[in-house]
Amino acid sequence: MTNVANKVIYNVGDLYENSLHDGDNMEHDVRQFDGENTGDTGEIIKKLSFLNTKEGLQQCMDDADFYLDIVSTYVEDNVLNDMQTCYLGNDWAGYRVKVHALKSSSAYIGAEELRAKAKRMEDAAKQEDVEYINMNHHPLVAMYEDILRNIAAVLPKRINFEGSSPIKQFTISVVDDSRLNRQVVEEVLSSTYNIKEAASGQEFFQQLEEGFLPDLVLLDVHMPRETGHDIIGKLKDDERYAHIPVVFMTHDNDLSTELQGFKEGAVDFITKPLNPSLLLARINRILDLYYLQSKLQEEVQIRTQAIVEKTQQMTVMFEQIIQALANTIDAKDKYTKGHSDRVAKYSVMIGSQLGYTEMQLMHLKYAALLHDIGKIGVPDGIINKTGPLTDEEFEIIKTHPVIGGDILKTITSVEDIYNGAMYHHEHYDGTGYPKGLAGKEIPEMARIINVADSYDAMTSRRSYRDRLEQHVVRGEIARGLDTQFDPIIGSLMLQIIDEDTEFTLHE
Ligand SMILES: [Fe+2]
Repeated sequence: MTNVANKVIYNVGDLYENSLHDGDNMEHDVRQFDGENTGDTGEIIKKLSFLNTKEGLQQCMDDADFYLDIVSTYVEDNVLNDMQTCYLGNDWAGYRVKVHALKSSSAYIGAEELRAKAKRMEDAAKQEDVEYINMNHHPLVAMYEDILRNIAAVLPKRINFEGSSPIKQFTISVVDDSRLNRQVVEEVLSSTYNIKEAASGQEFFQQLEEGFLPDLVLLDVHMPRETGHDIIGKLKDDERYAHIPVVFMTHDNDLSTELQGFKEGAVDFITKPLNPSLLLARINRILDLYYLQSKLQEEVQIRTQAIVEKTQQMTVMFEQIIQALANTIDAKDKYTKGHSDRVAKYSVMIGSQLGYTEMQLMHLKYAALLHDIGKIGVPDGIINKTGPLTDEEFEIIKTHPVIGGDILKTITSVEDIYNGAMYHHEHYDGTGYPKGLAGKEIPEMARIINVADSYDAMTSRRSYRDRLEQHVVRGEIARGLDTQFDPIIGSLMLQIIDEDTEFTLHE
């Protein structure tokens, strides 16, 4: 887990990612904007839309050229390094002066949010509120860097941004009781990284307690009181710090010390006396790899989230299509308006009693919504006939499960949808149609839909009768246990009827 401040700094630091170790790339980055922004001042100001340019222009008496000069100067005279120096040296008086300057200049160019942040930081520095400063320094710097970079991208011809001092992305803690060693590290690494020294484990943990969070720890193994082994143990046991890569520095060039260090979670070993080129190369490589990995993890998280959202959208769309099809069926049969919806509702009630999972209930709902889709293939004259059906007409009606099955057979991702249409007129004792399946041969969801379908037919009005009374319906379902209905599923329907004391479940 990377802390938020570091993440922010890392992301906005992309432009500098390579430039930290290779000035040529930086030059390339700046150069590639050449020629793109040669438009008039109005166009350039439009591209500065991340600033409140209206406010900025007002400060410059609406003189666009004057405003752009101010914006250029803002980047060239940035106080980033001064801020960092004061911060790392705990020089709060100096820090206050620098954030004050940042506040004023940000107000001038219309960087409102940064101005507000700098204002709060100035107040904190005034009160020496170290906790607030430690919490907010990195986000403030990240936002500042971001704005500098965005301006540089818009004004490449005006600003020689590569000429300004490199912005140091990472902070390295050097924990070593030897002052000389700390000095060597400082000299070798300080032009590329921010360095914070600690002469003992106690001092180091004190810094952490104050809110300081390094991106890497260079840790001496042999120290009085707490050794490097003790310190890495404490870091790895604390979820706030466990993610920070630790590199051991030791005189011991023996395998067992190294092995022990790796077991304890160290990412590398550097042998003393420190070789400057080797030290810089190793640290560069570790930070590159480590933070590239963090970035990849972040990327994976973002993509996974996108897939989840896409899947949710697809599910909603699938459900809407099924609902539309169900409405089509109900529109064809004017006597059974809302039938599919109600059968789905009752089926889901039964499925819940059976302990179905969310996914099973969803499939059951779809299957129930589409159980009568085969009626689309039955002539309207027969579907909507008010008088009694002839034997021949009834035979035609009886084809609707097969027609439905045929329509739905391509939906193989949810097998129950086919089963619901195909087998919802099968009877438990084998006397139903179209296949004459019996007992558990009939797919369970089709047995559920069969009960729900019969219940809704009896509790709905027909052209030739009103809906049946609840006790009559209950009697019919009870009579059908073991013959038409699965006895367990039928009993669950009886239970639902008994709980519906006001008889609300009907058309
Ligand atoms: Fe049916």
